[in-house]
Amino acid sequence: MADSKTAETAKTPNSSHQTPKRKVDTHTNLAGIALRNPVLTASGTFGYGTEFKDFMDLRCIGGFVAKSLTLLPRVGNPPPRIAEVRAGMLNAISLENVGVEAFIEEKLPEIPEGVPVIASLFGTEMGEYAEVAKRLVGVAKVAGIEVNASCPHVKSGGIEFGQDPRILAELVRSVRRATDAPLLIKLSPNVTSIAEMAAVCEAEGADGISLINAVQAMDVDVRTRKPVLKNILGGFSGPAILPIALRMVWQASRAVKIPICGIGGITEPDDAVKFLLCGATAVQVGTVNYSNPMAALEIAEGIETYARREGFATTAELTGALQIS
Ligand SMILES: Cc1cc2nc3c(=O)[nH]c(=O)nc-3n(C[C@H](O)[C@H](O)[C@H](O)COP(=O)(O)O)c2cc1C
Repeated sequence: MADSKTAETAKTPNSSHQTPKRKVDTHTNLAGIALRNPVLTASGTFGYGTEFKDFMDLRCIGGFVAKSLTLLPRVGNPPPRIAEVRAGMLNAISLENVGVEAFIEEKLPEIPEGVPVIASLFGTEMGEYAEVAKRLVGVAKVAGIEVNASCPHVKSGGIEFGQDPRILAELVRSVRRATDAPLLIKLSPNVTSIAEMAAVCEAEGADGISLINAVQAMDVDVRTRKPVLKNILGGFSGPAILPIALRMVWQASRAVKIPICGIGGITEPDDAVKFLLCGATAVQVGTVNYSNPMAALEIAEGIETYARREGFATTAELTGALQIS
């Protein structure tokens, strides 16, 4: 808990009669990745970072997770592949990305120095994940790797890598062998026991866990009597999934010692604070970037304000500070 003696006493020229603002240390260590504050943006909702350069100084957020990469460029699913639903959004963008080479050669040079970039990767086969990870070894500006385990494993008939503990274990093992970079595994929420999946990642050498990815869902247009997405099924994200994500972060945090990055429905600072209290070390904001491109910045500032108001000297002290009476 914060020590009131750490309060900053310096006064600004016009504030001699105001209560000085106590400084809160927001520095965060997420699985060996040094972040300025605990707020990142989530994969697939922030492009390759370059798209948001005009909205904010990227150095003011903790960092960003780029759109998931495969070895070769891929086109995604045919439209309609995005739909607005009550309290959230459905997407079936699928595999669309520029490929790892274009990411390294064209996208990364556009990112200012000092911005922690987490490269997200995926594949339809086990070997593809490891190949992409190898390609990213030693690449400047890549502060860490996030493995998107929500991709269908073709050999197992389309079950997500993150839905079967044995497949997940093999995936983590193979990427771990391919890279020494800080390694986060992003879990699928479409499982019976998130605690079991988190434990598998820890046992296989992951440095941290990100959760949750979008929840499998669908919606129907009663006028046309067709699914709203061409792909029929899609990932459900946005405010409605926050309580599900919180529950999963809480359960995972009790199952493992490695740090957790909480994701799901974060729209305002208090949402992010809830994830930290439930055991997350950092958070990622996703769908809200579509309606408010400045959201990550505002949420980072809001967490700091909360910590100051509640008497915490560092935002790191919020992690796991849930009071259970
Ligand atoms: C349009 C869209 C594309 C996404 N693409 C990816 C992706 O490429 N890789 C990934 O790991 N997650 C992807 N996600 C999932 C998000 O990163 C995040 O886990 C999820 O949306 C839940 O967070 P939110 O409710 O804050 O959006 C995508 C989400 C959306 C809405």
